[in-house]
Amino acid sequence: MSRSLAEMATEVLITADGREKTRLSRAHAVTWLAARAEGRPLPVGRAAPPQRPARPEQPELLSPRDVPKRKPGSPAGRIALLHAVAHIELNAVDLHWDIIARFIDTDFPPGFYDDWVRAADDESKHFNLMCDCLEAEGSFYGALPAHAGMWRAAEDTAGDILGRLAVVPMVLEARGLDVTPGMIEIFRKAGATRAVEALEVIYSEEVAHVAYGSKWFHFLCGRHNLDPKDVFHELVTKYFKGPLKPPFNEEKRAEAGLPPDFYWPLTAEGAA
Ligand SMILES: [Fe+2]
Ligand SMILES: [Fe+2]
Repeated sequence: MSRSLAEMATEVLITADGREKTRLSRAHAVTWLAARAEGRPLPVGRAAPPQRPARPEQPELLSPRDVPKRKPGSPAGRIALLHAVAHIELNAVDLHWDIIARFIDTDFPPGFYDDWVRAADDESKHFNLMCDCLEAEGSFYGALPAHAGMWRAAEDTAGDILGRLAVVPMVLEARGLDVTPGMIEIFRKAGATRAVEALEVIYSEEVAHVAYGSKWFHFLCGRHNLDPKDVFHELVTKYFKGPLKPPFNEEKRAEAGLPPDFYWPLTAEGAA
């Protein structure tokens, strides 16, 4: 009897070690997508995902204001940056498996699951790329403290699928599209080829995650005859504290199906 997708998702969520979590994540993605390609899809099923995913003992999780700031131009600053991205990627792995297991009661076509399985697989690759870069620099994931608040958005939207889609892929992951080119520039200036190449993979693959968010957000709004832009403004205001910060990567956001009238009104300028 094959396991359901929700059970596989939960197994990833309750695995603490990053390398092991992402190994399972990639293996489950292959299993799900292969069964779909053969026309014998696995059941989506039902499971009890944990309220918070298991995480390794290290890194120590601190409130953002207690995470030490390092100069981005220095070697220590570059390691801190890679470490912060590794932490974001590991969190993203859990976020994608969580959206699969958490909202089983919302009726979605199988393509919804394909998209988030693919996104989870991408993030698993990204986490390992960042770990490899850290290790090549003599560091490792867990060596530095990391941001404690990252699961907040998931907890706040645990009962609201439209809120989850608005805040996680369409705000947080879209923010990644805005800031990654600047990060790549920092590593390029330092001649850190390995990190540049890894971040370019991340940058090219993140567009699809934002696009999945926008696609399923529009799908659900359409099902309930809601105006997507109005609902987006309402939900981001409700769940995301503070204004969105320009500059925006308008080109990549457009490619991901996120038009300017979604995000500009949510900036400090737009609200004024
Ligand atoms: Fe990623
Ligand atoms: Fe992503």
